[in-house]
Amino acid sequence: MKLVILFFFTLLSLFGREAITPILPDTNLNSQKITLGKKLFFDTRLSENNTIACASCHKLSEGGDDNLQFSFGINAQEGNINAPTVLNAVYNFRQFWDGRAKNLQEQAMGPIENPIEMGFNFPDLIVKLNKTEYKNLFSHIYSEGITKLSITDAIAEYEKTLITPNSAFDKYLLGDKDALTKKQKEGYELFKSKGCISCHNGVNIGGNLYSKFGVVENSKSKSLGRYNITGKKRDIYFFKVPSLRNIAHTAPYFHDGRTSSLKKAISIMAELQTGRFVSEEELKKIELFLHSLSGELPKDGVIYVP
Ligand code: HEC
Ligand code: HEC
Repeated sequence: MKLVILFFFTLLSLFGREAITPILPDTNLNSQKITLGKKLFFDTRLSENNTIACASCHKLSEGGDDNLQFSFGINAQEGNINAPTVLNAVYNFRQFWDGRAKNLQEQAMGPIENPIEMGFNFPDLIVKLNKTEYKNLFSHIYSEGITKLSITDAIAEYEKTLITPNSAFDKYLLGDKDALTKKQKEGYELFKSKGCISCHNGVNIGGNLYSKFGVVENSKSKSLGRYNITGKKRDIYFFKVPSLRNIAHTAPYFHDGRTSSLKKAISIMAELQTGRFVSEEELKKIELFLHSLSGELPKDGVIYVP
């Protein structure tokens, strides 16, 4: 009997705990690498013809993405997948929509060599950077000098600072019950009761699992998602569940940027993922709740460094 009661209380405490946790800055970062990584992130010399930087598609003052359906890379070439935000990307369990990079460092190797993004290659980039001020800057931090690993390590260290703490919702989670309006609190309750939280949870309110886009109804997606990486049928239309932090600033939405309206995005989710009816009034409340997920954005040049 005692065991049963104990089990009951363990369950209670588990369910009582919020499934979403606030951002608590990591103070254990290397400031020299951050400064170097920041310089690299904004430097167009990392592209083959000196026109595109990471920051060209990930504009920090605009929510960490480019507000376009598809990005434009080198020589005005258009991509075919929506750029996610770099803000809080450090909290994602994998990087890219299909999760093909295991962390920020591995991710950063992608765009530099992507022919329609920065269109360069590491051997030539290293030769190029060694003729510049970077030669000294790297040698002060990395004994091996400029390499593919040191370039991407510095960029990744900088990206770890691109977090957005102190959103109204985080304040609420940390005990300030007035940080949300009445409607936002109702929106949060709906977010839970309609089942959104089953996929969008954890510190990033997403970013910690894969899910099919179109659980209840076909999403009519052109991209097959994770299937392209694994070749397994069960991965067709599976994508990394995106973070909902700063979602008010990162339109257009979904991997194919199919809508720029946040309300529309919520109704698409209700229809395709939960199959539950959500009234106009409820949509508005969920939208207001999602607005409470906007944190302190790093302003261009002035970033949040713990
Ligand atoms: C031409 C536009 C463009 C440039 C330049 C670019 N990115 Fe991206 N970035 C994207 C797109 C598009 C994706 C999504 C690609 C995918 O998932 O297949 C992406 C994905 C990412 C992600 C993954 C986020 C997530 O939630 O999965 C990170 C992190 C990132 N980029 C950082 C960088 C860094 C660092 C650089 C510079 C080395 C860079 N990007 C350069 C467009 C760009
Ligand atoms: C079964 C898992 C699941 C459930 C439940 C779910 N989502 Fe999603 N959500 C996803 C996935 C996967 C995507 C990305 C789909 C894509 O673009 O391929 C997504 C994308 C989104 C986006 C767009 C994010 C962006 O950056 O483009 C929003 C907004 C969103 N969801 C809100 C909600 C809301 C609100 C609910 C509840 C009504 C909900 N989701 C329920 C899995 C889920």
